[in-house]
Amino acid sequence: MNAVTKMTTMKALVYHGPGKKAFEDHAKPEIADSADAIVKVTKTTICGTDLHILKGDLPSCAPGRILGHEAVGIIESVGPAVTAFKPGDHVLISCVSACGKCEFCRKGMFSHCTTGGWILGNTIDGTQAEFVRIPHADTSLYPIPDGADEEALVMLSDILPTGFECGVLNGKVQPGATVAIVGAGPIGLAALLTAQFYSPGEIIMIDLDDNRLEVARKFGATQTINSSDGQAVPTLMKLTHGRGADTAIEAVGIPATFELCEQIVGAGGIIANIGVHGLPVALHLERLWDRNIAITTRLVDTVSTPMLLKVLRAGRIDPKLLITHRFKLSAILEAYETFANAAKTKALKVILEA
Ligand SMILES: NC(=O)c1ccc[n+]([C@@H]2O[C@H](COP(=O)([O-])OP(=O)(O)OC[C@H]3O[C@@H](n4cnc5c(N)ncnc54)[C@H](O)[C@@H]3O)[C@@H](O)[C@H]2O)c1
Ligand SMILES: [Zn+2]
Ligand SMILES: [Zn+2]
Repeated sequence: MNAVTKMTTMKALVYHGPGKKAFEDHAKPEIADSADAIVKVTKTTICGTDLHILKGDLPSCAPGRILGHEAVGIIESVGPAVTAFKPGDHVLISCVSACGKCEFCRKGMFSHCTTGGWILGNTIDGTQAEFVRIPHADTSLYPIPDGADEEALVMLSDILPTGFECGVLNGKVQPGATVAIVGAGPIGLAALLTAQFYSPGEIIMIDLDDNRLEVARKFGATQTINSSDGQAVPTLMKLTHGRGADTAIEAVGIPATFELCEQIVGAGGIIANIGVHGLPVALHLERLWDRNIAITTRLVDTVSTPMLLKVLRAGRIDPKLLITHRFKLSAILEAYETFANAAKTKALKVILEA
């Protein structure tokens, strides 16, 4: 490889349509807008949403796209309008890009930014590469101190803010309250970790996978229910003395688990949906109309990232618990295999080192 090729190409994981991906040479990104930064990726990971894309569930992501929306890295170059960062700075990349100026950003709804939102690894090239272009760099990157634990920080790109904002904040978790979390994947476990900021009395974790339920116990779940016997509702009702959950967090994204939340939410409770749903779900108002409940939905905004960074720095949370496997970026196809076969490999989050 001559010097010129070395500078203009890089390796990246490229989506080539449903079921197809390749780790291949790709043009290195360049500054396209004055507010952009080019970041050299040091650590990245794979999300369940990347698997959704590979199944063809997200038509917004076109073939030819570099996947990935979670990473930490070092700034390589910045556009002339970037004032908060300079080359050499260590940064956390948020899964949501935000201009900070539009109507939605001014409301803290970064996920609906008119020129941003969840675009990385979706409608623009993402982080599973040696370099990534970050638009609206000033308001989409977070400075990280030198020597900070990069692996732990990768969990703050998406997983932790998602579990916290969509599950815990929207679900108004209260001290002493009963929280039920359906789905013990990385997102449900992130909700479990961050729900404990508020000292709920009970956190009941529901899943089909005994290994994940065992992990949930280690992360602080007070009770676990394996729902594969179809008895989750009576079991939870017994555990809560017939009252149900004050907060029922849906962290799977299928009709069965949302409908389970409708059955286990107690009077005055909240169903906080996190799951990405591709199918219609039955809303049983004939049972719920007089229960004084609320239902919330949310696309993660990552407004809680600065707070989560402080909690991490203070050692009040250990998101590294979610990391089960580590690979070099060049072994990303193997990492995808491992991540996609979680029931067999017991994978939660995998770290890819670029
Ligand atoms: N709202 C947002 O902004 C946002 C952001 C990121 C991810 N998500 C979504 O959150 C959801 C969870 O993400 P994840 O990465 O943890 O997914 P995951 O697939 O790793 O975990 C889902 C868990 O649900 C369990 N499960 C499946 N069917 C079940 C059933 N019938 N009953 C009980 N448990 C069941 C699985 O065993 C698994 O442990 C996904 O739908 C994802 O797309 C939403
Ligand atoms: Zn994600
Ligand atoms: Zn905006």
